[in-house]
Amino acid sequence: MSFVVSQPVVAKLSRSAIFLVVTINPGSGPETAVRGLCGDLSSLLRGVGFRNLDGQLSCIMGFGSQAWDRLFDTPRPKDLHPFREIRGVHTAVSTPGDILFHIRAASMDLCFELATHIMSRLAGAVSVADEVHGFKFFDDRDLLGFVDGTENPVGQAADAATLIGDEDAPFAGGSYVIVQKYLHDLERWNKVPVEEQENIIGRHKLSDIEQPDAVKKPYAHNVLTSLEENGEQIQILRDNMPFGEVGKGEFGTYFIGYARDPRHIETMLDNMFIGNPPGTYDHLLDFSRAVTGCLFFVPTASFLDDVDPDAQPVTETDTGTPESLTTKVPQQKTSHSDGSLGIGSLKQRGVT
Ligand code: HEM
Repeated sequence: MSFVVSQPVVAKLSRSAIFLVVTINPGSGPETAVRGLCGDLSSLLRGVGFRNLDGQLSCIMGFGSQAWDRLFDTPRPKDLHPFREIRGVHTAVSTPGDILFHIRAASMDLCFELATHIMSRLAGAVSVADEVHGFKFFDDRDLLGFVDGTENPVGQAADAATLIGDEDAPFAGGSYVIVQKYLHDLERWNKVPVEEQENIIGRHKLSDIEQPDAVKKPYAHNVLTSLEENGEQIQILRDNMPFGEVGKGEFGTYFIGYARDPRHIETMLDNMFIGNPPGTYDHLLDFSRAVTGCLFFVPTASFLDDVDPDAQPVTETDTGTPESLTTKVPQQKTSHSDGSLGIGSLKQRGVT
């Protein structure tokens, strides 16, 4: 039986995290360097992680749609596309990002050490678009003072919410992730009476208990981000982190959401920024401004392990059609109905 190993999307929520978004520099050299790192990431992770066995170090590597086309000789995962800007009552900007490293651990030393190794492997090959060092705040609260993460799915529900299944069999076990860096106007927020803050979030601030449905405002964050399809609740997995620089007066929340279908997060964003119905938008956005926005595909760990640094993607000259207009059909590729990644230059692995 063949099997694939997912990246640790559903890893335990951690005390510390580094969110590193980079763009790949022009040329084939940087592309080869990035592909080289893919295969070595698990070894770097073992090297750093083994130094503290209680440290729970994990790293997710995700790829933006343009980066995917530049790097891999395989068709693009079916729902991978650039993050779409949303212009509603408030704006969700779309910003550059080819690769995301989401590094989590019980302490920042582990995150920092791994990020340092990753960046030294990619020196000259990538430019940093954004780097955020996140920390857990009292009682897992965000800097607005509310407990953040309570309604996350756990166990099998988390797997079902985040990991791709038969809907895109060649990429089964992969995931999608959307990140947005939010900056809060804390001075204004702290002037809002707690009762109204609770209406905006839809939960009680001190106890973290959800408001009864009959009391919730239509603009509450947990009303606009609650989705149902065919009578079933649609869930995503969030691992938001506070961050900031006190001297600069910068106070933020780094939003990160994983889903098996990016539309689930995009619909929540439409509801928040445009409103549902339009105009009934998320009042959290009156105090929180999104300054970045990127979408990435998270392939399986098996896929990363098997990336060949020298594999060339199909180019414009190969097909005679501009790359941006095509879904590349790889040569000698098979997608396996068993969900294994028998694609491209990837070797079949994990055969037991
Ligand atoms: C400034 C940024 C954000 C902050 C401070 C924030 C904060 C919170 C808080 C305090 C909760 C309630 C506790 C919990 O269940 O975790 C919550 C719930 C939730 N948030 Fe956010 N959030 C932010 C952005 C987003 C974005 C961008 C999305 C999705 C696009 C999102 C999706 C959700 C979902 C799905 C829930 C659970 C709703 C439920 O089922 O009750 N959040 N958020």
